[in-house]
Parts: sequence; C-alpha cells; structure tokens
Amino acid sequence: MLTKSLTIIAEHHQYFKNDGDDVIQGLKQTPKNLPPKYFYDDRGSELFEQICELPEYYPTRTEAWILRQYADEIAQITGKSELIELGSGSSTKTIFLLDAYQKKSSLCKYVLIDVSGGILKASVLKLQKKYPNLSINGLVGTYEQTLIKLASNASLSRIISFLGSSIGNFNPQESEKFLQQVADALNPGDYFLLGLDLQKPKDILEAAYNDNQGVTSAFNLNMLSHLNWRFKGNFDLNLFTHQAIYNQADAQIEMYLHCQKSHWVSLEALDCKVFLEAGESILTEISRKFDLENIQKELEVQGLKTIKTWTDPKQWFGLILCQA
Ligand code: AVJ
Repeated sequence: MLTKSLTIIAEHHQYFKNDGDDVIQGLKQTPKNLPPKYFYDDRGSELFEQICELPEYYPTRTEAWILRQYADEIAQITGKSELIELGSGSSTKTIFLLDAYQKKSSLCKYVLIDVSGGILKASVLKLQKKYPNLSINGLVGTYEQTLIKLASNASLSRIISFLGSSIGNFNPQESEKFLQQVADALNPGDYFLLGLDLQKPKDILEAAYNDNQGVTSAFNLNMLSHLNWRFKGNFDLNLFTHQAIYNQADAQIEMYLHCQKSHWVSLEALDCKVFLEAGESILTEISRKFDLENIQKELEVQGLKTIKTWTDPKQWFGLILCQA
C-alpha cells in the first residue's frame, strides 16, 4: 500500500503573523464580536461534526442530498479538472463529487483547505486511502492566506468549492471581498461551486441553531476555550450562555454568548484586557440566509456567471455552479 505524506503548506511564521489582531479588534467594538473562524480548533471541528448530525440541523443533510443527486451532472459539466475545497472539514459531502469524477476519471487533483489542522490531517489521510490514484493534499490556513497561494494553474481547469453555506459567515462587504479573491484564483473558464442555506421560516432556523441536546451551545462556548489556550486567556465558560436568534430584517442567524456577571477577562498573549458587563452579549457568528437570485447578481459582479443551480424539493438549500 502506497503511503503518501501529508503536505501542510503553511509556513509557521506566516500562519501566525498578526494572529489574534482580529480578536482584539472585535472585543474593542460595541457590541463586542469575535470572528467565527475561532470556532474551529480540533474540539470545535469535532463539535461541528456533531452539529451536522443533529435532527434540527437540516443544512448538511439537505446539501448532501443535492450533491448525491447531481454530482454526476456537475462532473459532466466541469470535465477534467482539479478540485480545491475551501473549509473542507471532514470532506464527507465531497465524497459524492469525488466518486462522480472517479467514474469518469476526470479529476487529477484534490486540495483540501481548512483552518483546523487536526481534522484536515485526518481527512487527507482517510481520502488518500480511499482514492489511492488521486493526488490529495491539505493546506492549513484561512481562506485569504491560502487563496493567494493557489495562484494560477494554467494547465488544468480548476473548480473551487465552498460548501455548507459557510459564505453566510461573511457580512455583505466581507462576502464581496471574498468572492473577489475567489475570482482572482480562477482562470477564465474555471468553476466555482457554492452551497447556500436559503431563507425559510424563523422557527425552523432558530431550532437549527438552538438544538435540544445543547451541542450548538457547547460549540459556541468552545470558542472561548480556544481563545484561552491559543492566546493565554482566562474566559470562564460558566459565566456565559448561548443563544441564537434569527434577525429577519437582515436575513441572518446571529449567535451570541451572553455574559452573566460583570468581570474582567485578559488574553495575556495578546496583551489585551477587556471588561464585560453583566447582560452584555458577544456576537460570535452571523449565518446569512440567501435568496438564490440575489446571490447570483453578487457573483456576476465578480465575473462569476451562473451555469446552473440545484435545490432540494423543499428549497431549503441551494447549490450554484458558476464559471469565471
Ligand atoms: C459552517 C458556518 C455553515 O452557519 O450553519 C452551525 C456553522 N454555527 N451551527 C452555519 C454553525 C452553528 C455553520 N457554517
């Protein structure tokens, strides 16, 4: 059995340069916020995998259904190419795509990108076993850091996939900047496959982010544990409670950590001290819910033209394939 080495393409000093600046920035603002990328240390990625299995959390299984149904068609349209997946996590859903490409032997390379080194390594090793004839590599880093490194591969057509509606974590300005970076990493004719959680009644959305078993609560609180080990912080998780609400006007879920007691918190490695009031909330995540037509216009502005869209029978989730 051929064993390949795991390529972790991230220079240590580059990965950690300015690390945590965004934490300081967010804690200085009113209301305070923290970047959702800090959900994903190894424990956080594990908790996210558990979220994906929850009865209330429909996005993962709905998107998986769409991918299972239409993977062959996607492989057919895009043809011979390399697949680059942003925020690959466990790569579970991507297996439908990989299988479809394998049937046509039209995929040469699969690159997984994630901020969470633990789950990335596990996924790369698992997939190298499952697809021994495919070149599979992992890249640890944020989207910004890694998209730049992907600069231009003229010899092979490229598909960048961004599944799970993770684009919903960006506000409109961030989303515009992100899509521009994606477009920059593509040559004319290359593809972008985007998964989108669609607008739906508030009760369904709020249930999905306030599950009965408390997994989402643990996931939200884990961000504080992550900040504690990563930046020598002293957040006391017992002083915070989780809540997610659907902001109908902005069509977004907002996840908060509500502070129960006034106290000081310090993040020693960042030289950062903040005072938290009792009753104050920290916004840890927005998860925007999309309208398939509007997002196509935003993609078009960046030169990403929709080739085809797919949804499930309830139209809860959408997939867009566009071309640069
Ligand atoms: C991975 C960002 C798509 O917004 O639904 C799940 C993260 N947060 N439950 C989402 C999440 C709470 C998820 N994304």
